[in-house]
This record gives sequence, C-alpha cells and structure tokens, in this order.
Amino acid sequence: MVGRPRIARQRISQAVRHARRPFRDGRLDTVSHPPSLPEIVNRAFDVSRRAGYVSFCRNETGRLLAMLAATRDGTMAEFGTGCGVGTAWLRSGVRGEKARIVTAELNPKLAEAAAEIFRDDDQVEVLAADWSTLLDRGPYSLLFLDSEEPTQVSVDAIADLVEDGGIVVLDDFTPCELWPPITQGRVDTLREHWLTDDRFTAVEVMVAPDASTIIATKR
Ligand SMILES: C[S@@+](CC[C@H](N)C(=O)[O-])C[C@H]1O[C@@H](n2cnc3c(N)ncnc32)[C@H](O)[C@@H]1O
Repeated sequence: MVGRPRIARQRISQAVRHARRPFRDGRLDTVSHPPSLPEIVNRAFDVSRRAGYVSFCRNETGRLLAMLAATRDGTMAEFGTGCGVGTAWLRSGVRGEKARIVTAELNPKLAEAAAEIFRDDDQVEVLAADWSTLLDRGPYSLLFLDSEEPTQVSVDAIADLVEDGGIVVLDDFTPCELWPPITQGRVDTLREHWLTDDRFTAVEVMVAPDASTIIATKR
C-alpha cells in the first residue's frame, strides 16, 4: 500500500531461488513453507522477470491467497494485477470450474503481460483498467486489495462489493504491537478501521516476521 515501506515485497531473484533451490550449499533454506511453487505461479514469475517487474506479493501471502481461494466459489477479484503473480496464486487455489477470477491493472503493458499467463484459461479475466471498472461486477466472494492506494480501499468504499461471508485481503502491512496501530509515526487508520468495523470479522495475520496481512470476512 502507498505510504508503507515496500520491504514486505521480495525480490524476484529471491523468490525464484527459493522456488528452485530448496537446499542451498547443502543447508536447509530458512523459509517455513515448501520451496516448490505451483506451475502457474512459476509462469507468472517468468513473465514478471521478462517485464522487469518486481512488485508482487510475497510467497507467504500467495500461499494464504491460494488457501483462501480454495474455500471460494463465485467471483473473486483483485485490484492491482501487476504482472499476475497474486492472480496466479489465487488461481492455484481454485477448486472446480465454478469459480472465476477477475483482476484489473491500470498499466496496460503490465495487464497485457499478465493476460498472457492466463490466455487459455476461461476462469481468469485480466482487464487493462482502473479497478473501479469492477465496481458493478460484484458482489465478490473474495477481494484481494493490492493496488497500493490505501485511500481508495476504506471499509466504507469496499463493504458493499463483498457478498455475505465473502473475504477481503489487504496486503503489505508492517507488524505493529501497539494499539491503535502505528505506521511511520502515525496512527494507521486504514488498519484500525478494517480491524474494528462491525460489518466484518477481521484479523491481522503475520505472514513473515516483517510482513502482515489483514483478512476480513463479511458478516
Ligand atoms: C503491488 S502491485 C500489484 C501486485 C499484484 N497484486 C501481485 O501480487 O502480484 C500494484 C499494482 O496496482 C496497480 N494499480 C494502481 N492503481 C490502480 C488502479 N486504480 N486500478 C488498477 N490497478 C492499479 C499498479 O499499476 C501496480 O501494478
């Protein structure tokens, strides 16, 4: 999200190294998840690398997205596709043919690159568009808010886009052991509102020592 340090993101070289070299120099790697990645995620990393694009969700968040997507039918949406890594993680979790994923990316070159990953996949639609074009395509069973623009993803702006029982995922928080949460010396009102709004049951989950994610289920 804008205004937050981007340290939660990992460099593509690290991600690929983790994916392909579980044992470095004969030692166990220090990740707490299986080192292999779903094929569709590897494809997304290849596309990202060719595009020189390195701003994507970290694998820990990706695994969370896949797990959540595995619980969903209906339409899932992502605001901010980037090069399709988060979309690929969502897709890797989808079960059956009922679920759909629609994702919007403002940058047409990135959207085109991401669309390539899912060219033969009827269940994924990549739009080269502002995410506001998705406002009338809901309600969504899962919404991954990752467009780096916190002012646009307040609870009030998002609540009606989610079906009852639907899940919202907000990425890229820095863990904070204070209440109200503080980011860069100021109260993080976005995080505070998402964690306290009566319309959702929400929790902040640390996906790594330096990164957390908010998951909120609509009541
Ligand atoms: C952090 S990246 C997305 C990473 C992606 N979700 C992933 O996990 O691989 C944020 C993206 O949001 C896009 N973006 C920013 N504002 C947007 C908007 N209003 N509508 C659609 N995309 C937007 C940016 O161009 C950027 O590519």
